[in-house]
Amino acid sequence: MSRLVVISNRVAVPKARGAAGAQGGLAGALNSALKQNGGVWFGWSGQEVEAFTGAINVQRSDGVTTATIDLEPQDVDEYYNGYANSTLWPLFHYRIDLTQYEQEFGKGYERVNERFAESVLPLIEPEDTIWVHDYHLMPLGERLRARGIRNRIGFFLHIPWPPTRLFVSLPFHERLVRALLHYDLIGFQTEEWLESFIHYCRKELGAEVDEERCTVTLDGRRTLARAYPIGIDYDHFMAQGDTLTARNAFQRVDASTRNRTAMIGVDRLDYSKGLPERVEGIGRFFDTYPERTKDLVFIQIAPPSREDIRSYQQIRTVLEQKTGQINGARSDIDLVPIRYVNRGYSTAELFGFYRASKIGLVTPLRDGMNLVAKEYVAAQDPEDPGVLILSRFAGAALQMPDALLVNPYSPDDLAHNIRLALDMPLAERRERWERLIVNVREQNVLRWTEAILGDLEAIEPQPAAGSGS
Ligand code: F6P
Repeated sequence: MSRLVVISNRVAVPKARGAAGAQGGLAGALNSALKQNGGVWFGWSGQEVEAFTGAINVQRSDGVTTATIDLEPQDVDEYYNGYANSTLWPLFHYRIDLTQYEQEFGKGYERVNERFAESVLPLIEPEDTIWVHDYHLMPLGERLRARGIRNRIGFFLHIPWPPTRLFVSLPFHERLVRALLHYDLIGFQTEEWLESFIHYCRKELGAEVDEERCTVTLDGRRTLARAYPIGIDYDHFMAQGDTLTARNAFQRVDASTRNRTAMIGVDRLDYSKGLPERVEGIGRFFDTYPERTKDLVFIQIAPPSREDIRSYQQIRTVLEQKTGQINGARSDIDLVPIRYVNRGYSTAELFGFYRASKIGLVTPLRDGMNLVAKEYVAAQDPEDPGVLILSRFAGAALQMPDALLVNPYSPDDLAHNIRLALDMPLAERRERWERLIVNVREQNVLRWTEAILGDLEAIEPQPAAGSGS
């Protein structure tokens, strides 16, 4: 297999994997792929410099080479906080009420994609396979083509693709998709997001779609478009469970929730994760079954995220208020029903927390996949597994029908399913878990990278036709 050049907004150095990476999922997946194939992982360092220089910082750690550039404050404002996370992120999570359509954001996005293309160019060798990740870098393939790069280039979208009716609210939507079609392969998390994309290409661009071959052809260029559901790094995750750190973490939850059932949620503090709605559902559970208040302790781990953006600051305030209200009303001298923790933990610690929690609550309003659901299942004791409550609007729901699937917008549905989970007999918990774990173990991240890279390698390089760029 040829050398791999991975390009994503953020680059995670393998040793730094943990607190932040554990909730993101992307880092582990890409490190595994790079270790197998060799190559380089290129992206933004997360640092700012006064004026962009394009200087590349190369590091080698745990068998993976990373190359990063610093961005200037205007780039971070307009590209990362702006177009990526105030325009595309909310829109692609169906939140057009939160979407900001600022022209300056769009310009910053284009500028940074140009900067990425210009900077990564010297690192690309003729036979390399290039794999670009996520919504930050949709135009990058086209920018590389414009610089004469003829290598195979694949793109994977880690978040949902919105329905056409929502997507067309984006100014220059056509331009964005035309740029995307310069990739040889576009991967989505689920068939649902793929269908929305295909619908758009047909209806708005008049592209030719070959359903059997999974291709979209526009202006003489053919792109393979497929769903590749991502999984967890199963072996690595299970190895974390064998550590002292994981055992200590298990003890911390177990000892502090004695005679009560621990229910856990682990999410970046993001409005797409449905956190206030979740807390609302827990409040409804306590209102509907007051005699069960003493049976349950809910642990919500929510490391802050994208803190410069107003909608993220607001979600934090709302969540703090709702949690405070419920704890104020329901706490006793020896019981605080909701433990709300504003920080991240290592993968090993999370393993221990998951295993000690008999209910996993994963209720995003919309999510590309959601790997917390899969990690929760993997961490369970096969003899006495916990119950996963999962939003039907997470991509993972399509692969995990044996979870208790819920509508995260409905407090009654959440309350009802929490009660079902609390009272579920051991035999049913085992049956459900045994079916869930098959998918989590088999559809792991190694399979995912093999499937995408295998398809990409099989594509015949195409002429640079019909660019429109
Ligand atoms: O899942 C989408 C994603 O942007 C990932 O690429 C990233 O790891 C995660 O969310 C965290 O986001 P950010 O890099 O903005 O902190």
